Amino acid sequence: MSSNKIEFVFQNKVHQILNPDPNETVLNFVRSNLKKTGTKEGCAEGGCGACTIVLGELKNNKILYKSINSCITFVPVLNGKQLILIENLTSENGKLHSVQNAMVDYHGSQCGFCTPGFVMSMFAMFKNNKSINNELINDSLSGNLCRCTGYRPIIDAAKSLDNLSRYDHFDKDKFITLRLLKKITKKNIEITSNNKKYFAPKTIKELKKILNKVKDAKLLSGGTDLSLEVTKKRKELEKIIYLGSIEELNFIKKYKNEIEIGASTTLINFEKQIKKYYLDFYNILKRYGSVQIRNVCTIAGNIATASPIGDSLPLLLALDAKIIIDGKNGKKTIPINNFFIGYRKTKLKQGDFIYSVKIPILKYNIFKAYKISKRFDDDISSVCGSFNLEINKNHIKRAKIAFGGMSEVPKRAIKTEKILINSEFSEKIFDKATKNLEKDFSPIDDMRASKKYRMEVAKNLLLKCFFEIKNQKLLRIN
Ligand SMILES: Cc1cc2nc3c(=O)[nH]c(=O)nc-3n(C[C@H](O)[C@H](O)[C@H](O)COP(=O)(O)OP(=O)(O)OC[C@H]3O[C@@H](n4cnc5c(N)ncnc54)[C@H](O)[C@@H]3O)c2cc1C
Ligand code: FES
Ligand code: FES
Repeated sequence: MSSNKIEFVFQNKVHQILNPDPNETVLNFVRSNLKKTGTKEGCAEGGCGACTIVLGELKNNKILYKSINSCITFVPVLNGKQLILIENLTSENGKLHSVQNAMVDYHGSQCGFCTPGFVMSMFAMFKNNKSINNELINDSLSGNLCRCTGYRPIIDAAKSLDNLSRYDHFDKDKFITLRLLKKITKKNIEITSNNKKYFAPKTIKELKKILNKVKDAKLLSGGTDLSLEVTKKRKELEKIIYLGSIEELNFIKKYKNEIEIGASTTLINFEKQIKKYYLDFYNILKRYGSVQIRNVCTIAGNIATASPIGDSLPLLLALDAKIIIDGKNGKKTIPINNFFIGYRKTKLKQGDFIYSVKIPILKYNIFKAYKISKRFDDDISSVCGSFNLEINKNHIKRAKIAFGGMSEVPKRAIKTEKILINSEFSEKIFDKATKNLEKDFSPIDDMRASKKYRMEVAKNLLLKCFFEIKNQKLLRIN
């Protein structure tokens, strides 16, 4: 049985909407329908943070607070969650929340346009963390832009929260919220609205039934790529299948020689796990979008976009990851190196979906990855390079190198690898290898970088990798 209504907790009540428009953003909904206009629209593409709201999600009988960009989240995604807006931070008696007080006390606001977004990001940070340090503040606020106050007073406000009691009216109402979240029906969702269809199956079995029945539906995970079709390109997505309610797709499993990451695992959850095995993978993910983006965007979404500048892709290529595809013919495994077949084209066929990705855990290798972008935080790569080398007694036994931003697809540098494999680990051979990058890649000019710049950067990254390994020292400016 499916339900055609979504339910979410808002202001200590279960709020229901019958057949909501699957293309309406949460931002429009809260401003136009709920008449809560504290949440602002800046860019409508997830880049400025003015629209940041917080969703409370039930996890092991606790509420997890996630900051998200409401401008790129569709309304039906609210199903089963608690919606928290800037207006809800103030208590019923008008008392400001500690986070709001901190912004007042430290003069963290001037024109005020960005302020609700900053406060909501800080609120999620405050609620989810017992202590607050500079790294956490930089990460939590990296998705919020301010054009007039400047960041110092805002960061000071965030720092001042460290020693404050976490107890607030959300804690006071916690049992009511938990009870309401549990009360919401756990049905499959099927919505029909203005000639648009939206499905949110709860199981893979149900997903496959829908895929058989509905031929040209778009799969929706975090929506940080797909939703821009609506908010930026002004298109309509007529049929959507949301994968975020399928718990079977949300897992991280550890085996002896590999880890398997379920398709719907968010990058924020993945980054914590991959840190144990490949520190540079974690470092790249920390610079991937913002917390608001990583709270929702998924590893499968990044892979399926096949974007030439998708940040996880060169890293997965250098690590020789495998993509597990599921669909009407059952599961099959494809090495990621064979998965991208053209600009934003993959081996996925009609009715297929990514089930998981398997990443080998290598014992004797050195793994390095570098992202070059115009801005350090919340920016897309101009070039992203990834290097996976096994060196034994100054002899290169294995080399897998991949780049993003250098071709129409993220791609291995096979010819360059051949120069390195079975060679001495020396500057001379790396110098020779850099010249070979021109045989592997012919990058394009675009607004992010010129062809010449991209090639120069790729060569330099290969040399940087060599010198970092040789000197056992990082060549980085943080
Ligand atoms: C502000 C902002 C900053 C960003 N920064 C970065 C960045 O730093 N680096 C970077 O690489 N990207 C970045 N992106 C791009 C975006 O975050 C990624 O492409 C993201 O990984 C997409 O994942 P998602 O779960 O949101 O996918 P969605 O948007 O839900 O889907 C993307 C595509 O994948 C398909 N898809 C989703 N799940 C599956 C599945 N299980 N099986 C098959 N197909 C599926 C969808 O149909 C769609 O075609 C940014 C985007 C925004 C808006
Ligand atoms: S309006 Fe800019 S991130 Fe949403
Ligand atoms: S206070 Fe004006 S944009 Fe931040």
